[in-house]
Amino acid sequence: MIRIRPIQRQDFEQLTQIEFESFTDPYPKELFQFLAGTQPDQFLVAVDTKNETESILGYAVADIDRRKQSKVGHILSIAIGKKYQRRGFGSRLLSKLINVLKSKGCTGVVLEVRVSNNVAHSFYQKLGFREVKRSRRFYDDDEDALIMALNLEEEL
Ligand SMILES: CC(C)(COP(=O)(O)OP(=O)(O)OC[C@H]1O[C@@H](n2cnc3c(N)ncnc32)[C@H](O)[C@@H]1OP(=O)(O)O)[C@@H](O)C(=O)NCCC(=O)NCCS
Repeated sequence: MIRIRPIQRQDFEQLTQIEFESFTDPYPKELFQFLAGTQPDQFLVAVDTKNETESILGYAVADIDRRKQSKVGHILSIAIGKKYQRRGFGSRLLSKLINVLKSKGCTGVVLEVRVSNNVAHSFYQKLGFREVKRSRRFYDDDEDALIMALNLEEEL
């Protein structure tokens, strides 16, 4: 069975493994620890509770930009372990995170995705995100990012 819950201290090791198998420029464990400390409600993990010890199968983390008049959620990262992909877990995790952002008063959600990451692009589109801009040389290796956004006001 799959359960989605806020991150806990014992999750970091497994989470870092998923991160390193998912990205060429993974977030270090220290950054995860910092994010878990500063925005614990917006750092969710999906766990497989079939065995006695819970296996982490994925995570999603967001922060909230409060500088503008309205609050905007920002998806910092999401990944599902390879053997669990394409089974709807990423959609469940991101939908839950979007609900958390909505409950905190966000009127929209934004994110960046590498132009070459077609899988993530389709994934976000299926969840209602639309491409709003291209950011040139956004990543350290100079790849462009697509900026995608979801309007939450339409759904209020
Ligand atoms: C992107 C990611 C989180 C999707 O998670 P997931 O659990 O596999 O996604 P879901 O099973 O919920 O898929 C939902 C939809 O996304 C799209 N999608 C997901 N994987 C896909 C693939 N391999 N090819 C094409 N479309 C895909 C499909 O539209 C899918 O709906 P469908 O299965 O009904 O066709 C996962 O592929 C991942 O962790 N990738 C590596 C890390 C990454 O790129 N993160 C995003 C960084 S911006």
